This record gives sequence, structure tokens and C-alpha cells, in this order.
Amino acid sequence: MNALAFTPLTIGPLRLRNRFIKAATNEGGARGGVPSRRLVQFHGDIAAGGVAMTTLAYCAVAPDGRTFPDQVTLDEATVPHLRVLTEAVHAGGAAAMAQITHGGCFTFVPPTQTRRPLSASGGFNKVGMMSGQWLRQAMTASDMQRVAQQFVRGARLAQAAGFDAVEIHMGHGYLLSQFLSPLYNRRRDAWGGDLTRRLAFPLEVLGRVLDAVGSQLAVVCKISVTDGHPRGNAAQDGAQIAHALQQAGAHLVVLSAGLNIESITTMFGSSFPKENRTHVGNPVVAAAMLLQRWTEPKVQFRELYQLQNSRVARAVAHGPLAYLGGVHSLANAEQLLAEGFDVIALGRVLIHRADLVNAFASGEVAESGCTACNRCVAMMYTPGGTSCVLGVPGDAVLNRTPAAS
Ligand SMILES: Cc1cc2nc3c(=O)[nH]c(=O)nc-3n(C[C@H](O)[C@H](O)[C@H](O)COP(=O)(O)O)c2cc1C
Ligand code: SF4
Repeated sequence: MNALAFTPLTIGPLRLRNRFIKAATNEGGARGGVPSRRLVQFHGDIAAGGVAMTTLAYCAVAPDGRTFPDQVTLDEATVPHLRVLTEAVHAGGAAAMAQITHGGCFTFVPPTQTRRPLSASGGFNKVGMMSGQWLRQAMTASDMQRVAQQFVRGARLAQAAGFDAVEIHMGHGYLLSQFLSPLYNRRRDAWGGDLTRRLAFPLEVLGRVLDAVGSQLAVVCKISVTDGHPRGNAAQDGAQIAHALQQAGAHLVVLSAGLNIESITTMFGSSFPKENRTHVGNPVVAAAMLLQRWTEPKVQFRELYQLQNSRVARAVAHGPLAYLGGVHSLANAEQLLAEGFDVIALGRVLIHRADLVNAFASGEVAESGCTACNRCVAMMYTPGGTSCVLGVPGDAVLNRTPAAS
């Protein structure tokens, strides 16, 4: 066993008990924006299973920042429910991180504060083919002020709910990624153009969140180290983004990849199976999945499929980096730590088996039984929420019962 994998690491004000964290994987347990009892159980199990920190995916910082209606939404009313979740995580000995996000134009929820969904630039909205919101609206300086303040408020609410860290979502094609990516950001002002300018708004958000909560919570940024698109950011850009975020004070950068619409296989390292559509009740999401199957190349899963891109970031950025993508075995984790990555982020393998880290530590198993089939992604939309198709589905009753009820 590699001693380093099970040694603590300090990121900002937070001490992690080992090097494994659970990556954000939307668990579909937040009907009406409120976390469910099943979501609490899910993260409690993950925490008790040995990770140093679990991530609650996808908490919208404002109602207009939601991608889906049933997405955790940070407001005063949600805090008591989130507190139940963080207490369960702490009881399992792990830290809790809230992923805080704004979807920008990647949304299926009509905006209330603006005429059209916001983005870095206006014009045709690709996701509008599914959502019916065909046009997006370029953010004004005052929109940016408001949204930056929503991130601050979201981080403060996460703190009030007992989270130990916040992860600002800057990847996968959500709002801050729409600023970072030249595919979305066509601005010609201080917030668009070269990478330094495209970084300006994400850095502003990071700076404000650090000022608000950074002395008490770890402030983490998740980025797409490559957009996986010829007109998007490549790994060299992603490496510069990671470096800039760390220079600005980010306590940890999580290296993901890809964009939800344009390059989902870059994110998952393998194609989505046709069975996924049959699990999805929502016809809009089912259509999106069909479109993705048509347009994306067929990709076979490879362990550590993000390694080449992430190495570029490791060579440039000096602070703590979390590797994410296709970690399947303890040997994979050992290799990553030997290559200088600080934290190992795990997604599907923990959906497959919540106590994988304990099983690694005890020597019970050396590798995961997850087949990387991606069928858990469609389970997100089922009444029981995200679960592994090889295991027991989530309890649908618990999944519609608010956590604090
Ligand atoms: C069911 C499911 C839901 C996901 N939802 C999110 C999400 O809400 N936010 C996010 O940043 N990444 C999300 N991801 C992507 C994961 O964080 C991760 O990038 C991906 O699973 C690859 O890592 P892995 O090979 O360890 O699974 C999701 C992944 C899965 C499987
Ligand atoms: S459904 Fe199960 S086996 Fe398939 S990718 Fe998800 S966790 Fe792995």
C-alpha cells in the first residue's frame, strides 16, 4: 500500500485525512431544490467509506443559476436540510464540500430576472435546441456584479450549513466555463479576448468567495483542463487557467475536462450507451442524449484517460491539484501521487462502491468493479436518483423526502 495515499493533506484551512475525494456526481436527490434523505444517506455512506471529503454536486447559487428545476438551490430555506447532510458526512469522519454553480445558458429553466439565459456572449444558444430558449444574453457589468455576489452568498450559505469547502464550478460548459472558453466567449471588452481577459470574471468570483469564506473554508475550483473541442481551450490553456487560479489563492484545483453539450465523452472518457435514453423520463434530456450519441465519436474507456492533459497542468501549476478521470485501482492512485498530483478525485467508482477507499486501505480489493458503462448517468433522472445499475437502486420514497423532515 502506498503510504502517501493515506496521509493527510492540508488545503487552505482544511485538513484532509487522506488523498481521496469524491468528485461531484449529481445524485438526483433534490426535488424542488431541497436535498432528500436519500441524498443524506448517499453522502453519509461515502464518508463512512473512507474518502477524505465528499462533494455535493451542483448547488445552484440562485434560482436563475439552475440548469434543472430539481437541483440543490442555495437559499435560507435549504440550509437546515443541507445541515443534516453535512452532519451525516462529519459523522462518517469526512469533510463536506458544496459544489457551487451557475448554469449560464446551459439551462432548462426559463430565467426570471433577465429576458434570456445569461452567458459570456449573446446569440444562438445551442442548448436551446432542447430547452426552447434559442437565444442567450451577453452579461452586462451589472449582471456580473450580481452573479459574483450570488456566488458569495452561496458560499456563505454553504458555510452556514456546515460545509468545510466550496468548489466553484468553472468547467463543463457552465457559466464560468462559458467565460473561460473561446467557444462561448466572443467578447471584445475586458472580459473577453485572450485568456487573461477570459479569466477576468472567474477570477473576480474566486477573489470574492475567498474574501468571504476563504479563511474558514477551503475554496476549490473545478475546471475543464481541455474543452475537448477544436475551437475551445486546449490543455496548454487549461494549465494556464489552473496556474492563474492558484496564483489568485485557490486552495485546490480539480482537473476535469470536456463540455456538456459539445464533448461529453471527453468528460467521461467513454461513450454513453443507448440504454441510457430508456431510463430518462424527461423527453428533453432524452433528446439531448440521443443528439449526443449521434454527434459524439465512439470512445472506449481507458483508465486514467485524462492523464496526458492533466500532466500539462501539473507541469505549469505549482499548487495542489486533484486528478480526475478514470481512476480505477489503487495502482492508478499510486501512479498519480508519484507523478506529483496531490489529491485523487473519484466519481463512478464510488457510485459503484461507497467504501472503495476503505477496501483499498484494508487490502480487500486493489481495483474497482465499475465497468465505466455510464448507465448511472441516466439513473440520475429516475425516482430513486443516481445509483449503479449493478447494485441496488436508490429508495424512491426517501429520495422525495426532504432531509430535515
Ligand atoms: C452520474 C454522474 C453525475 C455527474 N454530475 C456531475 C456534476 O454535477 N458536477 C460535476 O462537476 N461533474 C459531474 N460528473 C462528472 C464527474 O465529476 C467526473 O468528472 C466523471 O465521472 C469522471 O470521473 P470518474 O472517471 O472518476 O467517474 C458526473 C458524473 C456522473 C457519473
Ligand atoms: S452504472 Fe455502475 S458500473 Fe456503470 S459506470 Fe456507473 S457506477 Fe460504474
